[in-house]
Amino acid sequence: MRLGFMASGRGSNAKAIIEACGSGTLAATPVLLISNNLNSGALNLAKEYNLQTFHLSGQTHPDSDELDSAITQTMIDNKIDLIVLAGYMKKIGGQLLSNYKDRIVNIHPSLLPAHGGQGMYGMNVHRAVIESGEKISGATIHLVNEDYDQGRILGQKTVQVSKQDTVESLAEKVIKVEHQLYPETLQKIISGEISL
Ligand code: GRF
Repeated sequence: MRLGFMASGRGSNAKAIIEACGSGTLAATPVLLISNNLNSGALNLAKEYNLQTFHLSGQTHPDSDELDSAITQTMIDNKIDLIVLAGYMKKIGGQLLSNYKDRIVNIHPSLLPAHGGQGMYGMNVHRAVIESGEKISGATIHLVNEDYDQGRILGQKTVQVSKQDTVESLAEKVIKVEHQLYPETLQKIISGEISL
């Protein structure tokens, strides 16, 4: 299975997945990483691991349909089987969605359907969890469709939220389980334990 990543930020999830491929716990080949952010840690990391890298954004393609088309063509040209969103902060275009229906996965830092949707990303999510007084949080892997964070849930892992937790300490707990959950869930997809 050939993986194509899309990421905007530091890329720690992409790193965990690439390393799982390297160690053999994940039977997949990381092929390329597309970022909308030329200065992202994710792009540098992908270069370090010898993936092909592409900066495709509103800067390179001011027309959003052309950008969608360039991203889609890059995935098709490189025979990508599964698209892995790893902190990608832009909405996925209609062309990519229709060409890769049920073959785009995302990770979200809460137990969806709680604390998902537009505007719920990064620290906003952990702040909402702390403010709601919940005792557990976690991470969710889901399929991507037209609506933010609404696709079918493929896997979740929980963490305990203690009274002492701050937004930052909760974020640290959740990112640790993300790094386990993402490779594990991808391997379940590849082995057929989870069907897309
Ligand atoms: C993660 O918290 C993920 O759940 C969310 O974006 C963050 C990406 O972190 N979608 P990183 O760039 O993989 O470190």
